[in-house]
Amino acid sequence: MSVENTLSIIKPDAVKRDLTGKIIAMFEENQLRIVAQKKIWLSKAQAGSFYAVHKDRPFFDELCEFMSSGPIVVQVLRGTNAIEKNREIMGATNPEQAEAGTIRKEFALSMTENSAHGSDSPETAREEISFFFSGLEIIQF
Ligand code: CMP
Repeated sequence: MSVENTLSIIKPDAVKRDLTGKIIAMFEENQLRIVAQKKIWLSKAQAGSFYAVHKDRPFFDELCEFMSSGPIVVQVLRGTNAIEKNREIMGATNPEQAEAGTIRKEFALSMTENSAHGSDSPETAREEISFFFSGLEIIQF
């Protein structure tokens, strides 16, 4: 068990429906502290760059269109086992398969409009955090 940072995105479908506060509460109630946060609006090209690992997947264009359709909230969450814990709080990618009480079960509209993104490994977390944040923007406590 180690203290980790992970990258979280509250996606356009959730920001649009004013669910940001409810989602933040779920993180804080589960001992994930927000150590960096901002609201931004990605271009389609920027969304494509963030999701470059999926560029050959059939859902890539729809994903980039959606992720640039409105503002998102990007966050660095810190806590013990933050990467895995955040993935548990989010639930399965497909909301139909997500467990009750998870972000995606409660809020997601579809596999694409699934309300939240979280890093899936320490290496990905480092890359994804540095995509959005400089070291100066991350609180050290
Ligand atoms: P996310 O965790 O942000 O990572 C990639 C995103 O692609 C995923 O959440 C979904 O929003 C979206 N997506 C759409 N269709 C699929 C699919 N068939 N498999 C995985 N991800 C998908």
